[in-house]
Amino acid sequence: MRDTLTLLGIESSCDDTAAAVVRVAPGGGDPRILSSVVMGQAALHDAFGGVVPEIAARAHAEKLDLAVREALDRAEVGLSDLDAVAVTAGPGLIGGVMSGVMCAKGIAAGAGLPLVGVNHLAGHALTPRLTDGVAYPYLMLLVSGGHCQFLLVRGPQDFARLGGTIDDAPGEAFDKVARLLALPQPGGPSVEAEAATGDAARFALPRPLLDREGCDLSFSGLKTAVLRARDGVMRDGTLGRLARADLCAGFQAAVCDVLGEKTRRALEIYLAEGPEVPTLAVAGGVAANRAIRARLMEVAEAAGAAFVAPPLALCTDNAAMIAYAGAELYLAGQRDGMDLGARPRWPLDKASPAMLGSGRKGAKA
Ligand code: KG4
Ligand code: ZN
Repeated sequence: MRDTLTLLGIESSCDDTAAAVVRVAPGGGDPRILSSVVMGQAALHDAFGGVVPEIAARAHAEKLDLAVREALDRAEVGLSDLDAVAVTAGPGLIGGVMSGVMCAKGIAAGAGLPLVGVNHLAGHALTPRLTDGVAYPYLMLLVSGGHCQFLLVRGPQDFARLGGTIDDAPGEAFDKVARLLALPQPGGPSVEAEAATGDAARFALPRPLLDREGCDLSFSGLKTAVLRARDGVMRDGTLGRLARADLCAGFQAAVCDVLGEKTRRALEIYLAEGPEVPTLAVAGGVAANRAIRARLMEVAEAAGAAFVAPPLALCTDNAAMIAYAGAELYLAGQRDGMDLGARPRWPLDKASPAMLGSGRKGAKA
């Protein structure tokens, strides 16, 4: 019996081929990332305006063994030092997920190691435990280019979805607004930079779904409102510099208001469970936005909850989160066989209705 548990994690559900080695104490505590390799594919998909599933799957098949080799080398461990292999088994683009699952099966069978299939969203949702040792239960807001949902995280296999977007994800809305205003992609950082000099009050933009009870969100009407406002101030087909900054500031302020208010409501539901250490955690690329982060921090503070935002490299797709989630699942007794399947859809909360939205081509989870 070893005195630690070491897992190899493999992630290939969208456009990042990733492998990582994570080590935890026997009870699952004191997690350490020994290595985390992420090989992006952005250059392969750029010309198509989204992730092309077939191109992604081929690139994963080509790169997976290299990513695994590099992750083991950087961690200075061999296959015989591993206790299990964890792999994203869904949700995601099926060709990529299959490539990863097949690679993990090969390694597990060849090295005689247990195999653990991990839900990609569970990987994101458990990251605050990897980075900050956050205790269950906590509230998680996942805000990325493909997803937006509130999750009450009670355990590695116990998630309740309190609400989410009914159409676009916020990152997707930032990207579309950037496109409307001729700003570079990804839209989040460029809209945020423009917003810094703009007047958020100049355009009256809507705060969708605030009048409706609950924690569901909507961003597609907001994007359309930006389009209308833009058309109203364009002169001879050109948009002035000031108007562009004002539109960005107005849009970002609306997203902050909506996310802030819905988070306040989600916190109310979560706090009713009586958590010992109330905590709001965020993950996903949109969590990089300073105005959004500041608003969420404010809302958490007002509710008496701690605010945790993992470092950005661990908020976006990576395999360390898969290895860590795999460790928790392994300790909970999960073992998968050679019949582990790849699932394009896999809701974390089996009781909640199917996810709407995330209509972007090859949307990330
Ligand atoms: O989590 P992520 O890297 O990948 C997905 O799962 O989609 O998130 C990428 C998304 C993009 O839509 C990007 O525009 C958005 O996160 N994003 C931001 C910022 N940085 C990245 N959105 C708002 N403000 C930012 N600073
Ligand atoms: Zn993801």
